Amino acid sequence: MIPWQEIDRAQVPGQKENIILQKRGQEFSIRIAGTELMNSRIHGSEDDLARLTFSCLKGKSDLRILIGGLGMGYTLSAALEQSRPETVIVVSELIPAVVRWNIEHLGHLARMPLDDPRVTVEKEDVAKIIRKQASAWDAILLDVDNGPEGLTQKANECLYSRSGLETSFLALRPGGILSIWSAKASEAFTRRLDDCGFKAKMVSVRARKSGKGSRHIIWLAQKS
Ligand SMILES: C[S@@+](CC[C@H](N)C(=O)[O-])C[C@H]1O[C@@H](n2cnc3c(N)ncnc32)[C@H](O)[C@@H]1O
Repeated sequence: MIPWQEIDRAQVPGQKENIILQKRGQEFSIRIAGTELMNSRIHGSEDDLARLTFSCLKGKSDLRILIGGLGMGYTLSAALEQSRPETVIVVSELIPAVVRWNIEHLGHLARMPLDDPRVTVEKEDVAKIIRKQASAWDAILLDVDNGPEGLTQKANECLYSRSGLETSFLALRPGGILSIWSAKASEAFTRRLDDCGFKAKMVSVRARKSGKGSRHIIWLAQKS
């Protein structure tokens, strides 16, 4: 077996841990504190996050889309595939090194999504961007952590809390979609979304593009 080779490492802002980019043959892996955050071979559910979100926005034009975070760019690439020429996509990424790695090492994996003129990158916490403006977005796509019940970064709890969901509700245009990736299902979280004014459903998807692998969850929550 080909051994993993470390390409780069960087400090996670506000934390002690390093984030590490590794390569083995054509495969890339991003790890924090010994845990794999992303692997370039497995991105079916990351693609589905964008595909399912856009399926809820059919018939709408002049879309403004916010994606948090960038990772390896698969959700962003799948969003671009569904977008019209006038669509505006802002992708928020907390860790500047991840943006740099996409430019220097990872771009080819997802068809160079950062080169697309419809895309702007903000090296900022997505929670801060959501708070900036009411009625700003047709969709907010969140894949920043393991989901509402499996946080790797405590600071991200605010995105999944009742007040965080209410802030996202305000940031969406009427009919807008909050979509959230998660490693695990939670009926309680679906109820929390509904309590915040959304009409929410929980969809089970496969980790791999082939329709195989473990199951992941995507919540699609519409501001009705
Ligand atoms: C699992 S990866 C996202 C994978 C991505 N969907 C893809 O298709 O490759 C999670 C990303 O979110 C970033 N992140 C974590 N917390 C964030 C936050 N609060 N705001 C913005 N980005 C964040 C991480 O640095 C990481 O790049």
